Amino acid sequence: MTETAGEGGRQMTGIKRKHGEEEKEEETVPTKRLVTDHGVKVASHYNSLQEVGLAARSRSRIFFMRNFNNWLKSVLIGEILEQVRGAGSRQVSVLDLGCGKGGDLLKWRRGGISHLVCADLAEVSVEQCQSRYNDMKRRSHFNEKLFSAQFITADCSKEVLSEKFDDSELMFDICSCQFVYHYSFESEQKADMMLRNACERLKPGGFFIGTTPDAFELVKRLEASDSTSFGNEVFKVSFQSKGSYPLFGCQYHFSLEDVVNVPEFLVYFPLFEHMAKRHNMLLVSKQRFSEFFKEKVKDEQHRSLMMKMMALEPFTAEVRGQPASDSRGEYSHAEEHCSRGSIKLPLGTLSQSEWEATSIYLVFVFQKMS
Ligand SMILES: C[S@@+](CC[C@H](N)C(=O)[O-])C[C@H]1O[C@@H](n2cnc3c(N)ncnc32)[C@H](O)[C@@H]1O
Repeated sequence: MTETAGEGGRQMTGIKRKHGEEEKEEETVPTKRLVTDHGVKVASHYNSLQEVGLAARSRSRIFFMRNFNNWLKSVLIGEILEQVRGAGSRQVSVLDLGCGKGGDLLKWRRGGISHLVCADLAEVSVEQCQSRYNDMKRRSHFNEKLFSAQFITADCSKEVLSEKFDDSELMFDICSCQFVYHYSFESEQKADMMLRNACERLKPGGFFIGTTPDAFELVKRLEASDSTSFGNEVFKVSFQSKGSYPLFGCQYHFSLEDVVNVPEFLVYFPLFEHMAKRHNMLLVSKQRFSEFFKEKVKDEQHRSLMMKMMALEPFTAEVRGQPASDSRGEYSHAEEHCSRGSIKLPLGTLSQSEWEATSIYLVFVFQKMS
């Protein structure tokens, strides 16, 4: 793919770059092309996802990977809340940008926040998120004050979110954007509007946190593949071509078990960082999931949360309960680890395929400069 996608038929001057190469700017010849709004595809995909119960989720091939991702988000959210409180905020307000069905509502409740704004493109997801919140409120104990909340259906890469807030003066301590930001890299305008929505109502010192695929990792795996796709039994990433990667609109198709099956866009992180600076945001940290895991697992509290959330699959060399995959090769890394001896069993692990899928992602933290 060599073109950048623009909105409303507007042609953009593209800057093409091979990842890992020196920055080269070259002008693309303006061409006529069909403009598709991927937001519609993304919304209809997420709207059509069925809400499945706990029993069905626990039978999923990616049960542990989903728990692992949830653990990682919990740790990230917990640490950021600690920092916000450490800086003196008592009434913590949060914007969950691309909230989905409300997978993080419990994390916000545990974090004892005061107010939450949930926004998402997919109307059905927002409805489910709101009804989860209402259930939570109904079931909350008389002595527990659940945070207040507002739910907004909007394409946050096109619309100005702050115009929709119930409280027109509302400012946030945190904007959390989990597994969402890459959808906006379809065009510069969209990526910038998403950033504006994430950052314009952050208090000075407030945080913009999130998770998104690491473009370098995706391109590295693509270049190593002998076709235009790569993956395994749980996920598949397909590009249209390889060799040239425009900064915006570099589309690939991502599918993950029965959860995701949508077009996404590469987020070239140095550009993301540069754009964020224009919104007065400073990059505090950026870590691949593997790095984040290695660092956080050293902490006893994070480890016990990991057990509670079943974020790793218990592995014993001889007897395995019901492994997520029957394929023995999927656990050869764990077997090898056990064979080194003096390992306390069961060992916590993820199948090779799940690890390959989750290790595509990175965690980012930006902070608003005063
Ligand atoms: C992988 S889900 C993540 C949901 C949630 N953040 C989580 O971690 O469970 C991605 C979500 O991003 C939403 N999304 C994608 N593009 C969006 C946009 N332009 N504006 C708002 N939401 C968007 C989708 O509708 C979907 O709910």
